Amino acid sequence: MSALDPREELAQRLGLEVAPVRFSSPDELRTRLAEHDYLSSDAISSVTFLADRLAKPVLVEGPAGTGKTALATAVAEALGARLIRLQCYEGLDETKALYEWNYRKQLLRIQAGRPEGSAEVWSELEEDIFAEEFLLTRPLLEAITATEPVVLLIDEVDRVELETEALLLEVLSEYQVSIPELGTMRARQIPMVFLTSNNTRELSEALKRRCLYLHVGYPDVERERDIIVSRVPGIATALAEQIAQVVRTLRLMDLKKAPSVSETLDWARTLVILGRDELGEELVAETLHILLKYQSDIEKATREILGRVS
Ligand SMILES: Nc1ncnc2c1ncn2[C@@H]1O[C@H](COP(=O)(O)OP(=O)(O)OP(=O)(O)O)[C@@H](O)[C@H]1O
Ligand SMILES: [Mg+2]
Repeated sequence: MSALDPREELAQRLGLEVAPVRFSSPDELRTRLAEHDYLSSDAISSVTFLADRLAKPVLVEGPAGTGKTALATAVAEALGARLIRLQCYEGLDETKALYEWNYRKQLLRIQAGRPEGSAEVWSELEEDIFAEEFLLTRPLLEAITATEPVVLLIDEVDRVELETEALLLEVLSEYQVSIPELGTMRARQIPMVFLTSNNTRELSEALKRRCLYLHVGYPDVERERDIIVSRVPGIATALAEQIAQVVRTLRLMDLKKAPSVSETLDWARTLVILGRDELGEELVAETLHILLKYQSDIEKATREILGRVS
């Protein structure tokens, strides 16, 4: 017997249909993401492509504002899929991640159905109120039971506690959720899954093992210039290039907080609004606070950079 493709193997093990291949090559993926204004590096396009082929989640890690969340959004757009987002935070539990019962609705149902209050009525009611219509689905359950194509984004997973991480792990390995009162809800499909992390704490080995790892760092000057051109309407390519160069210089300095891609874009938009099409020393000095968020960084950058902007 020939070895099964990993997607087929997983589908067979879980008793699901094999999902159609979503992208034919890393290049095709890159082109389709670019159509939605997301410009990938080689690493981004190849890991995302492989995630689909291997049916594995992608763990996207890297500094703030480098396009981790935007990657999942762009993949969803490119696939015409619904993006289901689980925003993680400290204290997130299964009632917010998986499901909870709609107590208010259950209560109303109980009140409507208790004219006599006999034992028989109660047992019937109990069966009634733990039915699917009283269930509030949260993002994980929603994603695995969706009938239409979805992309699941588990954003900032490093913020949850270890126990919650274990819960995620269970869902991501079995693609099923067991609800004591209802039984097991199985996935209809295996969605593409992205987990993002700012690396505020180490994630468990078990979670890492389950995922493909993708580090998203700052883009090089060329890609950042292209990101600016694609995200900031009306900007001249020459100005975008100058902006990308200055930002790169700033990132090489020893600053408290290096500018992220989102800050680059804010700066570019500011310059367009001001009607400027060239960067000069004065302009950089006047607008540096859009890029840098610490006064000590602004002072340091002002001292070091001004001589270099032509
Ligand atoms: N490769 C890229 N192509 C196009 N736009 C990008 C790219 N990378 C980043 N951006 C832009 O930068 C903005 C910030 O990206 P995003 O919010 O995805 O960052 P993040 O890595 O999730 O940050 P955080 O860790 O703070 O959540 C996005 O809105 C997007 O416009
Ligand atoms: Mg993000």
